[in-house]
Amino acid sequence: MHAEIAVLPGDGIGPEVTAAAVAVLNAVARHHGHMFNLHEYAIGGAAIDACGDPLPAATLVACRDADAVLLGAVGGPKWSAPEAKVRPEQGLLTLRKALGLYANLRPVQPHPATLGASPIKPHLLAGVDLLVVRELTGGIYFGEKSRDGDIARDVCEYSVAEVERVVRRACTLARQRRGHVTSVDKANVLETSRLWREVATRVARDEFPDITLEHQLVDSMAMHLLSKPRAFDVVVTENMFGDILTDEASMLAGSMGLLPSASLGDGRVGLYEPIHGSAPDIAGRGIANPIGAILSVALLLRHSLGLDAEASCVEQAVSATLDDGVFGADLGAATPANTVAITRAVLHRLDSHCQVAELRD
Ligand code: IPM
Ligand code: MG
Repeated sequence: MHAEIAVLPGDGIGPEVTAAAVAVLNAVARHHGHMFNLHEYAIGGAAIDACGDPLPAATLVACRDADAVLLGAVGGPKWSAPEAKVRPEQGLLTLRKALGLYANLRPVQPHPATLGASPIKPHLLAGVDLLVVRELTGGIYFGEKSRDGDIARDVCEYSVAEVERVVRRACTLARQRRGHVTSVDKANVLETSRLWREVATRVARDEFPDITLEHQLVDSMAMHLLSKPRAFDVVVTENMFGDILTDEASMLAGSMGLLPSASLGDGRVGLYEPIHGSAPDIAGRGIANPIGAILSVALLLRHSLGLDAEASCVEQAVSATLDDGVFGADLGAATPANTVAITRAVLHRLDSHCQVAELRD
C-alpha cells in the first residue's frame, strides 16, 4: 500500500518520541512491502518560532492532503506567558477542528510487566481494558472566550448533532468489544450535560439495542476509575472531562508515556499522538518514553490505513519489549532504558516476530 503521512514533531520531547514512531513506521513499511511517504511539518511552539503561527497554512494543507497525521506534542514554558498572544496549543486545537476529528480514542490496557509502576493495587488492575472516547471538537474548549475587566468567560456549548455522532462512534466501537458503554457527564449541574445524557440515551436505545449504556457523573467516575477500573469497557464523554479522566486513567497503566491516541472524524485522515505533553522538564535528555508514540503508530495503521495485521505486530513488539523489562525510569525500572534503547528493543522484536506475512501492492 502507498500512504502519505504528515509528521508533526512539535515541542519538548515531541521530536524525540516522534523519531521513535517514525523508525517503527519505516520498519513496518520495509517488512510488509508498503510505501509510506513521510514529510515533516511545523506545529506548536516550533512553528511560532519559525513563522509566528502555531498552525502554518502549509502544515494544515499537508495534513488535509495526507492519509494520516502523526504528532508528537506541543507547548512549553517558552510560549506560556499569561499575556502571550499566540499559544502552541492553539495549533493543535485548530488542527483537530479543521480536520473534523471529533472522536478521540484513548485505549488503556495496563501491561502485566508494569503493574508495579501504577499507584493502584495490582489486583485491581489485572484485566483492565478500557477505551475512552473523548469528544474532541466541541464543549468548553471551543466555546466563546472573553475577558471583561475582572471577569473571564469560557462558554460550554454542545449541539444534538455533536453528541449524536460521538456517541454513535462509541457504541460502534463497543460492538467490537464487550458491548458496554459508560457515558460520563455532570447532568445534575450542567445543561450541556442534560442534553448529552438525553441524546446518548436515545441513540443507544434506538440504534444500538445490543449495547448496554450506563450513565455516570464525572466526579463519581473519577473515583470509580481508580476503585473498580475493570468495570469499564467503552467510556464516552465530553471534551474537557475526557482530557482530565484520561490523564487519571494513564495512572492505571503506570505512566502517561505509555498511552496512545487516535483522533478520528468521518473522513479517512486521522491524527495520531501520544496523550502525554511536551514534558519540558526532561526534553533533550533522550529519556522520554516512546511507547505512547509507537502505539499511536499501531492505531494509525489500523484506523487510517486499514492494516490490522501490521498494527497487531507493532502492539506485540511493544508488549514483548515490556515483558522483557525494557522500560524507563517513569515505569520504575531499576536500570532504566532510554528512548533510543526502548525504540531499538521494539524494532528488534518487530524484526523477529513480524516478518513479511504477505506482500501487498
Ligand atoms: C491532550 C492535551 C491537549 C488537550 C492540550 C495540549 C491542548 O492535554 O491532548 O490531552 O487539552 O486536548
Ligand atoms: Mg490532556
